[in-house]
Amino acid sequence: EMMREITGIKQLERRLKEILHIAEVVIVPGDSDETPLVKEEIGKACAEKLYSSFSDEDIIAVTGGTTMACTAEMLSAHMGEDRNLLFVPARGGIGEDVKNQANVICATMAEKTGGSHRVLYVPDQVGREVYESLLKEPAITEILSIIKSAKIVLHGIGDAITMAGRRRTNEATMKKIIEEKAVGEAFGYYFNENGEIVHKVPTIGIQISDLHDGRVVIAAAGGKSKAKAIKSYMKSAPHSTILITDEGAANEFLKGH
Ligand code: G3H
Repeated sequence: EMMREITGIKQLERRLKEILHIAEVVIVPGDSDETPLVKEEIGKACAEKLYSSFSDEDIIAVTGGTTMACTAEMLSAHMGEDRNLLFVPARGGIGEDVKNQANVICATMAEKTGGSHRVLYVPDQVGREVYESLLKEPAITEILSIIKSAKIVLHGIGDAITMAGRRRTNEATMKKIIEEKAVGEAFGYYFNENGEIVHKVPTIGIQISDLHDGRVVIAAAGGKSKAKAIKSYMKSAPHSTILITDEGAANEFLKGH
């Protein structure tokens, strides 16, 4: 803590928290764009924040992405000791590679903490009819109600164009995302600089409106290249959000303030 005060990180955290109007900001030193190890530090800080948010019994909804995958690796057995933890994917498939998928990340989190996990299988590209009949499947509605009851939500934030490129985004959607000037992405929602939703991946699970009803929301994203994305998303984020980021993103962010 002393080191963080001396190096000015504490001050940076306070300023960012004020500007973003959120509950808490945790900044790790360095820039994860330049140093991969810094992303691991974000994962570690995120895992610790998650641990301090746990009660004896919790349902934790998690999104996909590499930052969430890093967080999963940083969880450990003592964090889940004497606890009943259940990890569930926050939303259905949004086109990520397997290793970055929420289902896989939840499995790792459960394994690391000695908790359990449930999967939500929703194909990435299905027609309206298939989608609607899926919603009537008892197995799907059961897991959906578990997801919706999650007390803790843990998610990443991505640069819009990077995310659209990484996912299997069709050409028309890609065009829309570019034309509408999307800069940030979270949960499969794409935001412009004003924080307005310009596109939403149509899938089931936690919707952005669900975040505003008193849950613990932890967001993790770092790197200079994500400063704009974080800023855009935070305009519609609940004020209860705890952001775990790095100096790279924080310094870039504060340039405009
Ligand atoms: O939704 C946001 C993205 O999943 C962030 O992905 O952590 O790999 O940058 P990332």
